Amino acid sequence: MEKHMKITAVLLAAGQGTRMKSDMPKVLHPLCGKPMLWHVLESLKEVATEKPVVVVGYGADEVTEYLGDSARSVLQEPQLGTGHAAMQTESLLKGKTDMVIVTYADMPLLRNETFKRLVETQHLNPGPFSLLTIIADDPRGFGRIIRKPNGTVEAIVEENIATPEQKQIKELNAGAYCFNADWLWGALKRIEKNPGKGEYYLTDVVEIAVKDELPVQAVVHDDFIETIGINTRIHLSEAEAAMRQRINHSHMLNGVSMTDPTSTYIEAGVKIGKDTTIMPNTYIHGNTVIGERNVIGPNSVIRDTTVGNGCKILASVTESAILEDDVDIGPFARLRKGAHLMRHVHMGNFGEVKDSTLHEGVKMGHFSYIGNANIGANTNIGAGTITANYDGEKKNPTTIGENVFIGSDTMLVAPLEIGDGAKTGAGAVVTKNVPEDTLVVGMPARAIRKFEKKSKQQ
Ligand code: UD1
Ligand code: CA
Repeated sequence: MEKHMKITAVLLAAGQGTRMKSDMPKVLHPLCGKPMLWHVLESLKEVATEKPVVVVGYGADEVTEYLGDSARSVLQEPQLGTGHAAMQTESLLKGKTDMVIVTYADMPLLRNETFKRLVETQHLNPGPFSLLTIIADDPRGFGRIIRKPNGTVEAIVEENIATPEQKQIKELNAGAYCFNADWLWGALKRIEKNPGKGEYYLTDVVEIAVKDELPVQAVVHDDFIETIGINTRIHLSEAEAAMRQRINHSHMLNGVSMTDPTSTYIEAGVKIGKDTTIMPNTYIHGNTVIGERNVIGPNSVIRDTTVGNGCKILASVTESAILEDDVDIGPFARLRKGAHLMRHVHMGNFGEVKDSTLHEGVKMGHFSYIGNANIGANTNIGAGTITANYDGEKKNPTTIGENVFIGSDTMLVAPLEIGDGAKTGAGAVVTKNVPEDTLVVGMPARAIRKFEKKSKQQ
């Protein structure tokens, strides 16, 4: 392809998506954690050379806000069909681009390679555009491709106006086109209102080219899955399953093991290093980066978390947390926002850590809550330890030194500082700072009275 060729992607996203029965614009419904629209933009990234243009209408503000800097948006108001939608981009794009890829934002499974093929086909086509078709037994309401006896594409007929014979046609309009821009603007103006729904159908550009005796090229695609279009929530769930499988396969091909991919839910954009194993029933969401040689799950939920190498996360929940190398948590550990576990930290069952740093080698085996705390290296947190960090108004910090031994069931009433090497007795309620290498004990059980022993004879 010529280097200087300017290619712009146009995504049609103005429709409400009535069949979704939702207040949210259809294109913002998530698929593997990211809006449908994100997936389409992602697939077009390496294909287009210019910033994409999204035609918005229903929920325009919401969609435009979501797009931010990632695309330009153009308003279509009212929404008079896909041809009318494409027409709205003329003032922005005329004279600014050589090729225009037009696709529908409700087709999130189309791959980058497929768009590339489409552009390459159009590049060799002396005619004004190329389009993507798919041969499938289930027509799913798609437009049918009409071909001339010599095989060239003659028209696209929408299902609602197709004759019974045309409805039998197995070649369908997948919903992606690559146009010669200069030709497109003129052709869009020639589209007439379709008698079906009274809309201007983009698909009518085929007949316009044919009338002018210009060749239209079709890229016939064979991956039915890629052309799942989302009109209902059932389609959305089908697309979700397909996308999830695609994501899981790509991780496995990159060296990640999954004992049961069908119960492994990894969102788009998550990064996982090689020789990490993901066990069943595990959910990995958001901006999560996982290193190498970890074992994650079973039964874990990991969100916006950074995991180093060699960690074990068993039946645990983490959110906005950092685990450095060789950290081992669970079963039933919970890391909340701002939990930072440095190397070799061990956290056992029923612990919760929030806004706290546990330095290298800290051990926290059972039933503890650590909030707003900084815990020095190799300190041991006994079972049932609690940082009482909240005084009813604000969160107070707890600082614990290195090699400290916090006895079981200690209450650490913040703000509090405990020096290096200090020890607290079981059940201590610590309200004052503890100097280094000092033992504090509190509230030992007192003898109240001695029971009279009943003699066995009585
Ligand atoms: C469309 C095609 C059909 C194709 C199918 C593939 C037309 C006329 N039909 O049908 O041939 O097989 O996609 O998925 O193009 N939109 C706007 N403005 C409008 C109307 C729609 O931006 O005025 C957007 C929608 O938000 C949607 C996309 O265009 O993202 C497609 O519209 P939709 O109504 O879903 O078209 P289909 O009936 O699926
Ligand atoms: Ca559609």
